[in-house]
Amino acid sequence: MTLGIVAALHEEIADLLAEMAPGAHVEHVGMRDYHVGTLHGHDCVIVLARVGKVAAAATTAALIHRFDVGEIVFTGVAGGLAHGLSVGDVVVADTLVQHDMDASPIFPRFEIPLLGRHAFDTETPLRDALAQAAREWLATDMADEVPASLRAQWHMHAPRVHVGQIASGDRFVSSAAEVTRLRDALPRTLAVEMEGAAVAQVCHEYGVPFAVMRTLSDAADDDAHVDFPRFLREVASHYSHGILRRFLLSRHA
Ligand code: ADE
Repeated sequence: MTLGIVAALHEEIADLLAEMAPGAHVEHVGMRDYHVGTLHGHDCVIVLARVGKVAAAATTAALIHRFDVGEIVFTGVAGGLAHGLSVGDVVVADTLVQHDMDASPIFPRFEIPLLGRHAFDTETPLRDALAQAAREWLATDMADEVPASLRAQWHMHAPRVHVGQIASGDRFVSSAAEVTRLRDALPRTLAVEMEGAAVAQVCHEYGVPFAVMRTLSDAADDDAHVDFPRFLREVASHYSHGILRRFLLSRHA
């Protein structure tokens, strides 16, 4: 079964692309490059969706129709929303919600009109395997792959893996006030980003198993616009690459 691997930004998949086995080829569809080949022995299509829910949904639909993928993993960074989370922690989604969907009073806030639901569940075995790969990578390889100076700068002393809700919306969240509003509206949510719940909706509609993994690059607060690009540049690719390598290798066993 072919696995689709999707990210919003180049830094999040740069090392994965470099690691594809020789013989991979690129197909250009809808202004996106789909890298078709094998990664650690698995048939994969790796694609940069670009940012936002529409970009993610269009890319997901193409992966399903055009490339016939049987499952999809989204990897990237997110802003931490829940108390007690730290930059460098990993959040693996159990459910995803679109925090900017609001057709009230016609439909309840957050509900996707005419679909009758507001939250989408990720596939349990895929999510568990990703969370396990993330735990193992953090406990073993991370210290070798992310330089100590970077870990110190980012106060990444003992990064953890959390499994819980991720909220997506077409907005970069960068103020303490908005964090408070989102926490109040969606108290279960651990992290906020801009694509996951769109991938989730399309995968739900087509019955394709999927999972979403996010490394926290910022706290979605007033410093988020500074932390996010720096983390992306310095750290993000190590995480995606290292965790997905462990994930793919574990699937051989
Ligand atoms: N991705 C990473 N950080 C984010 C934030 N603060 N808001 C939305 N998406 C993000």
